[in-house]
Amino acid sequence: MSEHQEAMRFEDAIPQLADVDVPAELKDWIEQRMAMYPDRKSAIIPCLMAAQKLHGWLSPEAVDQVAAVMRLTPARLVSVATFYDMFELEPSGRRTIYMCTNISCMLRGADAVMQELERAVGVTNGGVSDDGIFLRSFECLGACDIAPMASVDGQFVGPLTVDDAKQLVADIRAGGEVLPAKQLSKRPVAVTLWEGGGKVGAYDVSDSASGAA
Ligand code: FES
Repeated sequence: MSEHQEAMRFEDAIPQLADVDVPAELKDWIEQRMAMYPDRKSAIIPCLMAAQKLHGWLSPEAVDQVAAVMRLTPARLVSVATFYDMFELEPSGRRTIYMCTNISCMLRGADAVMQELERAVGVTNGGVSDDGIFLRSFECLGACDIAPMASVDGQFVGPLTVDDAKQLVADIRAGGEVLPAKQLSKRPVAVTLWEGGGKVGAYDVSDSASGAA
């Protein structure tokens, strides 16, 4: 447990909003999220994620800001954050690459892609480059159908080749879109294909749509 986590564990007081400088944009966002749930604590995870995006990691300052707006103790927030792998309780980069090295991705060459990422970023697994790129290997990200894949600032890209790894890092450094042709969110979805004529790839699925044998 880090020093920060240890300190938070024993901190009981809820920071007062008047004492904490919370960026207006973050405060509004947290208040909107809390209003979506009958119990405001249900919004802890997205609110912590918003603070992490703003600060680059869940610094004590970031946690205090969320705690003050949510009227919860920092200890409570840290206890949630430590349970989830995507919360960073130590300083990390402004840009994040999570390379999946779990079984499906590993069988499809993830280790070689990871090695190339390490070379291109200039750090080993878990490191942050001088220009703020945080690279780490990750367990299954739930997108095995595009294995081997990575999450870049939350955007899923795959299937990745070793050459893609170089391009991915170059795209981050250029400040543009990262591998747009391989972004999962840009893929046509089944509904679109369905409406386009009942074909998914080589398969005609129109019979199953109508229930015909
Ligand atoms: S094993 Fe990589 S996304 Fe599932």
